[in-house]
Formats: sequence, structure tokens, C-alpha cells
Amino acid sequence: MQPMEGKDPLIIAIDGPAASGKSTVARRVAAELGLVFVSSGEMYRAFAWWVTSKRVDPSDAVAVVDLLVRTDFVCGEKEGLGTVAVGGVPMTRAELSAPEVNAAVSAVAAIPEVRERLVAEQRRYGLERGVVMEGRDIGSVVFPDTPHKFYIDASPEVREARRRAEGIADSIAKRDRIDSSRSASPLVVPDGALVVDSSELSVDEVVARVLAAVREPARR
Ligand code: C5P
Repeated sequence: MQPMEGKDPLIIAIDGPAASGKSTVARRVAAELGLVFVSSGEMYRAFAWWVTSKRVDPSDAVAVVDLLVRTDFVCGEKEGLGTVAVGGVPMTRAELSAPEVNAAVSAVAAIPEVRERLVAEQRRYGLERGVVMEGRDIGSVVFPDTPHKFYIDASPEVREARRRAEGIADSIAKRDRIDSSRSASPLVVPDGALVVDSSELSVDEVVARVLAAVREPARR
């Protein structure tokens, strides 16, 4: 299977709650298929970092949107991974996973104007090259027409334990509550998505299920 099938780029949408393992799985699937891996969460995180570094209150939607319209995003690629620069600053992993970003990102991502802008960036980027993109609304909003939609889940206990093992301060229950209850593009299982509960599965097993469904959609 090639990244571009005929004229249409191959788009694989992977959604799920925080720490469900979707990012690890998406990265592996992308490497297997020769596609670029994109974490859409990194784009929301990059903007949340910009908001906090400019000392804007993440819950002040008017001030956040005022900053948004003055901010440019540049999405690129390095060694098969999507990259993002915001306001001319290339983001590093340390910045994107900083505790203040974890605390601010869901409030920033709930603002409709922020979503509209980043969804447009995500569509343009994906349609240019073909991607495995993971997030909360990739199959439901960003690429609703792709036949390759997945929802990776895990129990709250397993997800909390995974974050603890990474040594990252992150209130995932709070983020999940905001992400699932917001009115703009809440986290949902997209129509037609294959749901995989990763609580009891190894990464290899989840990757194998996703790849099998991409290669043989009829056998789902
Ligand atoms: O995937 P990750 O946990 O890094 O995402 C960080 C936050 O970005 C999420 O908690 C959510 O608030 C937001 N997000 C979103 N839509 C996406 C991806 C992430 O709202 N497609």
C-alpha cells in the first residue's frame, strides 16, 4: 500500500482519550506504511505554550483569539514526524509536555476559533502528503471521509498508570472531562471507527490490528 492511492492521499485517523496509547500506535503505523506521523495534540499544545509564554489567561477566550489572529503556525516534517513552529519558535518535546501546557491546553483547545484555525492547518497538511494523524476529532471532524478511522481506548486506571510511569505531571481525568464535554468538536467515537481497547493488549498487538484493518478494510 502506497502513501498516495491513485490521486487520493492515504489518511489514517486515530482518536482516543489522553494516554490511551494512540500516539505510540500511530507513530508505529506511520513508520510501517511510510507515512508522516502527526500528533494534532502537539499543535494545540504549541499554541497553549505560546499563550502561556505571552502571559495570556487560557480561560480568557477573547484574549486568546486576539493572540491567535496575530500568530503564525508552520507545520513541517523531520524524519517522518510532523513538526510545528509557532510564532517562529520551533517547539521541542520539553516545551510541549511542560506542566503549564498540560494545565492550559484543554481550555485553549475548547475555543471554536482555535479549532477552526488548527483544523484548517491539519487538513491542508494531511491532504498534501498522506498522514497518520492522531487526536480527538480526526475521524469525526478533520477527515470524516477517510475510510481508515480508529478509536484507541484504555481504562482510566491503565491510562493514569501509563502517565505516572512516564513521570509526567498531567491531570488526564480533568483533560478528558473538558475534551469530552466541550461543545466544539468533543471527543467522540467517530462514525465507522474500529474501536480497540488497549488496556490488556501490547503495543504490537494494537499496531497489528490497525494495520490489518487498513490493509483489509473488508475483514474488519
Ligand atoms: O493528544 P494530547 O494529549 O497531546 O492533546 C493535548 C490536548 O489537546 C488534549 O487534551 C485536547 O484538549 C487537545 N486536542 C484537541 N483535539 C485534538 C488533539 C488534541 O482538542 N485533535
